[in-house]
Amino acid sequence: MWQTATARTPPLLFARVELKARLLLPGIRRSVVEQARELREQGGTQPERLARALERLAADRVSDEARPVLDRVESARRALLRSAERVPWAEDTTQSVALICARASQPPSGARLLHHVVAAWQPTRALELGTCVGVSAAYQAAAIAGSGTVTSLEAYPALARQAEQLWERAGIDNARVVVGRFAETLAPTLSEAPWDYVFIDGNHQGPATERYVEQAARATAAGALLALDDIDYSDGMRAAWQSVRRRQDVAASAVVGKIGLLALR
Ligand SMILES: C[S@@+](CC[C@H](N)C(=O)[O-])C[C@H]1O[C@@H](n2cnc3c(N)ncnc32)[C@H](O)[C@@H]1O
Repeated sequence: MWQTATARTPPLLFARVELKARLLLPGIRRSVVEQARELREQGGTQPERLARALERLAADRVSDEARPVLDRVESARRALLRSAERVPWAEDTTQSVALICARASQPPSGARLLHHVVAAWQPTRALELGTCVGVSAAYQAAAIAGSGTVTSLEAYPALARQAEQLWERAGIDNARVVVGRFAETLAPTLSEAPWDYVFIDGNHQGPATERYVEQAARATAAGALLALDDIDYSDGMRAAWQSVRRRQDVAASAVVGKIGLLALR
């Protein structure tokens, strides 16, 4: 059953999400436009593709088809922010769905950013590491035209169920979740190649992130895009980002807020 709203929603959770919703630009927009210009100067197919994705992002226009879907996702997010249901979270603890949603889901600004990137890239098979309650997968799935799909990996079955409910409520039928830890699910899922887009948003530790990039880069199709969240989260993540953006198989890279983008050769 979809979680219904309760009267005990902590107003701070809404405030937190709403505040993040207003942070999208203009500082980030300026940097995005500048990076797009530099990518063009660099020349080549992948820098050009990435430049176009950044320009789409800077324009921040959601299509008429996607807008009602994203509105329904945000309405579902608001319902989750009122949910007092407790689910397993972070090893041996339980936590309210409201708090998990507020703390771990991409805020509207970051989710919209991913939506624009995916809308520009148009992958046919997108993979996400870290589903949580399904918000970012929904934004990305809504950006893919035609028969493209999003597969998302999540350790906690209760969160995976919340995600499936959110997608159903938003009318999204091109997303699926695979339950289990990345150590068990990533390799077999990647073996269902080809993937042409991977968003890494779970287990934000430097060495793990480098490992996921290595695994993803080996399994994705030529010209795939990798997106990494929280590249400035810690010294370890900053070091990982500096390392992965210099990989031989990276044709072009960009940073949008706390998200790093790697366009592979
Ligand atoms: C930051 S949240 C993802 C948020 C989601 N992408 C969104 O924006 O809507 C990270 C998720 O990854 C999951 N996760 C973290 N480490 C994991 C691992 N090793 N295996 C599987 N799932 C993991 C967590 O349970 C959590 O739900």
